[in-house]
Amino acid sequence: MKKNTWNEVYSKNFSGMWYPSEGVVKFTARYLKRKIGIKKYDIKKDVRRILDVGCGNGRHVVFFAEHGYDVYGIDISSKAIEIANTWISMNELNANVKVGNIEKLRFDDEYFDVVILHEVLDHVTFSNAKKSMNEIKRVLTANGYIYITLRSTEDSEFGVGEEVEHNTFILQNGYEKGVIQHYFDLEEIKELLEGFSIFDIELHEEKFPSIFTVYKAFSQSSRKCKKYIDISKHFDMNLKYSRWHIAAEKT
Ligand SMILES: C[S@@+](CC[C@H](N)C(=O)[O-])C[C@H]1O[C@@H](n2cnc3c(N)ncnc32)[C@H](O)[C@@H]1O
Repeated sequence: MKKNTWNEVYSKNFSGMWYPSEGVVKFTARYLKRKIGIKKYDIKKDVRRILDVGCGNGRHVVFFAEHGYDVYGIDISSKAIEIANTWISMNELNANVKVGNIEKLRFDDEYFDVVILHEVLDHVTFSNAKKSMNEIKRVLTANGYIYITLRSTEDSEFGVGEEVEHNTFILQNGYEKGVIQHYFDLEEIKELLEGFSIFDIELHEEKFPSIFTVYKAFSQSSRKCKKYIDISKHFDMNLKYSRWHIAAEKT
């Protein structure tokens, strides 16, 4: 994927979501020990450093920094990093965010206890995703955690756009137009996460009725979206975003 494609995404009117995703909040609540407030009785994983790979506008970096974690972020888009750094300094937070490529992380071995990959590794080819996982493994401590989301082959968008590789398409619509989208099945997930032991895996499905104005909901790129209500059709929840949410430990 070209660096400039993501700069274009962030330079258009779109700057991303301004709140952390439910999945990252849930992962943190379930598995990471608190850094501020009540922590004495918290038996979850004690974390020194967190890396958010493909951090975008920094929404998860901000979330972790606000909760007292020592957090780092990298993204291939300089525009995204500019937005993230503006947000971090406006909120007077401490976080280390810079331009970087997931394929060659500029950090020492075993530097992070947790790596977040939220909607990132499905935006590169499968071979690059596998290469990137080796880098993630390298920078993770023994028994370090990853939290990763991957778009599933069950998604309504699957098959839309120019196919550039097996299960890999160039998005044709929506704010991410022009970027690579790979859709994962379970076999590929198993292959991708070699060297990790999965301790939490969920398939999240958000369904949209195709007859309504989902155009304005968070489904900008769905192929069957209509801008009008067609009451001649039956109510049919046939559009869905389908994404794997996975938490795993380095073995
Ligand atoms: C869908 S966005 C997700 C952003 C963020 N993780 C979030 O959840 O808001 C995908 C991000 O991955 C970044 N990205 C894509 N390829 C990358 C690469 N090879 N190295 C680092 N970042 C990359 C993009 O610039 C973009 O910010």
